[in-house]
Amino acid sequence: MGDPVMEPYSRHVIVCTGGFCSPDRRGRELYSLLASLLQREGLLFGPDRVKRGETPCLGVCGGGPIMVVYPEGVWYSHVTPALLERIVVEHLKEGKIVDNAVFHRIGP
Ligand code: FES
Repeated sequence: MGDPVMEPYSRHVIVCTGGFCSPDRRGRELYSLLASLLQREGLLFGPDRVKRGETPCLGVCGGGPIMVVYPEGVWYSHVTPALLERIVVEHLKEGKIVDNAVFHRIGP
């Protein structure tokens, strides 16, 4: 059997849906909202598509909801629905990091 084929994509977003960074589990709502925003912005299909995933913990466990965007390695905290919309439009679509919401970065 050959290797599986991965279609191109531009970014990968991981949202914490756990209960420690956001005790009322707002990460779960964000994760659902993310899908509709990606669809609205035309980011679900094609080579510029954005992959999304949820995780029970990103190891921060405070200041949530927390989400991280790769390949930039940019971590966002206190992600409200309004901030998520900015991140989708400005970062994921236009490539401009929402600097004032970033609390951590890895990589170059
Ligand atoms: S529970 Fe969200 S970072 Fe740990």
